[in-house]
Amino acid sequence: MAKITEEVKEVVGKSKGFAVATATKEGEPNVVPLAFGKVLSETEVLLMDVFMKKTEENIKANPRVAISVWDMETYTGYQFKGSARIETSGSVFDDGVNMVKSMMPSLNPKAAVIVTVDSIYVTSPGPDLGKKVE
Ligand SMILES: Cc1cc2nc3c(=O)[nH]c(=O)nc-3n(C[C@H](O)[C@H](O)[C@H](O)COP(=O)(O)O)c2cc1C
Repeated sequence: MAKITEEVKEVVGKSKGFAVATATKEGEPNVVPLAFGKVLSETEVLLMDVFMKKTEENIKANPRVAISVWDMETYTGYQFKGSARIETSGSVFDDGVNMVKSMMPSLNPKAAVIVTVDSIYVTSPGPDLGKKVE
């Protein structure tokens, strides 16, 4: 199980958003930009479902997800791979709704997508490119 270190968390904070890739059971890929997300714990990332269609369908059929985040100023980036679950009530959902509404009060999130991250890779150009973060 990968650990989302403070260094990785900092890049998530500086990333303009999250590129979130899913796939159907048959392997048809889908990637979307998401703005509403954050690190929940050392192993979990929260993404808020406001407009998802294919992404939500894909996760229900195939929970494997890849996420890319990057800091454009320092050219530092990480790729997360993990499994997603969907929650439509509870404290994580409520917390996510508050996060979205604090930024855009008119939006009504449908669900919280919680990704348990099992591996993290460096995408930053340089000697560590492609290395797994342990
Ligand atoms: C800059 C930007 C930020 C977005 N942020 C979110 C988000 O946080 N949550 C969300 O559900 N959709 C968000 N969207 C919409 C998704 O990218 C996408 O359009 C939506 O998931 C529907 O696509 P899908 O059917 O492939 O899932 C955002 C779109 C853009 C362009």
